[in-house]
Amino acid sequence: MEDLKVAIGSDHGGFLYKEKIIDYLKARNIPYVDLGTLTREACDYPEIARAVAERVISGKSNRGILVCGTGIGMSIAANKVRGIRAALCGDTYSARVSRAHNNANVLCLGERVIGEHLALDIVDIWLKTGFEGGRHKRRVDIIE
Ligand code: RB5
Repeated sequence: MEDLKVAIGSDHGGFLYKEKIIDYLKARNIPYVDLGTLTREACDYPEIARAVAERVISGKSNRGILVCGTGIGMSIAANKVRGIRAALCGDTYSARVSRAHNNANVLCLGERVIGEHLALDIVDIWLKTGFEGGRHKRRVDIIE
């Protein structure tokens, strides 16, 4: 696995899964920074998405994980930040290929859409999968 430095965030709709993912990261000694939200109180997901996205772009973290109710708002907001390739994943195949082909640097999850164990499997695969480069690099370069 590459040297991971994860930035994680959620709104109130993704708070529980954020805490579960943090438990996963802690158990594996994967360095992370929690950019909120820190309570179940309602908050605005675009603020959290921007904080995580900007941290990834700064290089202080090399992967971002964002959770909201659906994952949709987080992915729309994160993808507004130049250089972010945020992938909303609801299955493990998409998680793997978002890394291998798209070099996704942010993973988005929907707490109200998928089960907790699937979410953790997606995180596990997404963090462990490297970018394949080659023809996929050419395509990602076109996006950038
Ligand atoms: C919050 O109610 C909900 O809109 C948010 O978590 C997310 O699903 C937005 O895309």
